[in-house]
Amino acid sequence: MNRHQWICMILVLMGACVWMGPARADTTITPDADETSQILIHVDQGRHRIAPEIYGHFAEHLGRCVYEGFWVGPDSDIPNVRGIRTDVVEALRKMKVPVLRWPGGCFADEYHWKEGVGPPEKRGKMINTHWGRVIDNHAFGTHEFLDLCEMLGSEAYIAGNVGSGTVEEMQDWVEYMTSDKDSDMANWRRANGRDKPWKVRYFGVGNENWGCGGNMTPEYYADLYRRFQTYVRDYSGNRIVKVACGPNGGNDLGWTEVIMQKAGRFANAIGQHYYVRGSGGWGNGQKGSATEFDEKEWAVLMKNSLNMDEAIKKTLGVMDRFDPRHRVALYVDEWGTWWNEEPGTQGGFLYQQNTLRDAVSAAIFLNIFNQHAERVKMCNIAQINNVLQAMILTRGKDMIVTPTYHVFEMFNVHHGATLLPADVTCPAYNGAGQDLPMLVTSASRDAQGVIHVTVTNMNPNKDAKFVCALAGKMPSSVSGRVLTDKAMNAHNTFDAPNAVKPVPLKGLSIDGNSIQGTIPSKSVVVITVK
Ligand code: AHR
Repeated sequence: MNRHQWICMILVLMGACVWMGPARADTTITPDADETSQILIHVDQGRHRIAPEIYGHFAEHLGRCVYEGFWVGPDSDIPNVRGIRTDVVEALRKMKVPVLRWPGGCFADEYHWKEGVGPPEKRGKMINTHWGRVIDNHAFGTHEFLDLCEMLGSEAYIAGNVGSGTVEEMQDWVEYMTSDKDSDMANWRRANGRDKPWKVRYFGVGNENWGCGGNMTPEYYADLYRRFQTYVRDYSGNRIVKVACGPNGGNDLGWTEVIMQKAGRFANAIGQHYYVRGSGGWGNGQKGSATEFDEKEWAVLMKNSLNMDEAIKKTLGVMDRFDPRHRVALYVDEWGTWWNEEPGTQGGFLYQQNTLRDAVSAAIFLNIFNQHAERVKMCNIAQINNVLQAMILTRGKDMIVTPTYHVFEMFNVHHGATLLPADVTCPAYNGAGQDLPMLVTSASRDAQGVIHVTVTNMNPNKDAKFVCALAGKMPSSVSGRVLTDKAMNAHNTFDAPNAVKPVPLKGLSIDGNSIQGTIPSKSVVVITVK
């Protein structure tokens, strides 16, 4: 046996004998930057299902996310089905969208749904005060959204209006969408063209009510939450998962504490929001460019992305005090990178490009979410088209997919699979004055017994040689795909739409119960083991 085989055998035996910890990854950083990384996957120990909704998305009436991104109208020259563009739906179906959150965001707490149903020419017009003060003519409303969900094969996650709405309005909305009774709301839906009620699985009672959703104190929101959620009813076999507004970022523990204490027993989940950037501030024009940055800015984003893990642990720590039996799930129902708007963008439209840096950040987040599969049951990246860390960018009739799209497509093998604990020993990457683990990984076993390992190498300069031992499995075949480029800021454009896309990962081999290979610098990899 060579040195690697000995190490793997010892790791497998140690893992099989003494591993007792939670079903997630434990990472150790080694001082030697050239050392081969060791990954040990406990194939025989998985306990938790990775909810497909961890790979959820978010579409707000903001900039060109909904209008143009999805909605072009039935009379458009752009190919569409009932007003929804075909190219975008086809691309997203390939990537898979398990759940879609709508209509906001901040927009949700000023949206009055009744304005957005019925004949289009009779629908109201509103000022979208948060996002550019543009007029929203309500062409895209409840029917169009739920039609879109059916086209995508997604669960619907509606965010209701607490900030400026009424209890009656929220109650009516749920009845309108989901009841099959002979009631006013259900009959109004029928008159508007939809006979059968829809299934609406998730309902958020407000959005960011500590900020744009009403600037409330946690005590005030907790009371309102209790009242509003009472009237979010289950009709006709539809079972709604109720989501309370959770904390802002990683340190808002006081909010979580009050919500859990006063309202936790009325909620099925709370929704935390977590945005990341480089070293700039949050103000207008301070967040840094999406495409022009140096290695320090790259590294700061990696560090901030990794901090999601700590933020989840802190929030779960507070939740555990009030919910030791883990009945209430944690959602991260807005997350992602937030850069300066691209030059020339209409103010408030939050249009940004998306590079390999965003893709590596997304892979860090998704691997962390997988590792917390026991309690993190939904996450929604912001946002699906043309806004923030988008999957899709459109320009008139043209459409391109981003590097982040490719990460979601590569990781979709984890949907519904069983999380496998993984221990990682890897060199440090120190680009931001702090040792970070060069590799972030997660692994799962699907219903057919196939193992998938997703790994990202955040070091933009060094490849990572690795040995991956599988405790409890003798592999018979291995293959991989990799997303990378020579440039940290590589991205797709309308002139070069396929500049960044996954290709087969070469050089993987099997040796006994272990896999060996190299994870290129600044890359995202998915490895399939049978
Ligand atoms: O995603 C953009 C905005 O970010 C959302 O509207 C809001 O909820 C958050 O602050």
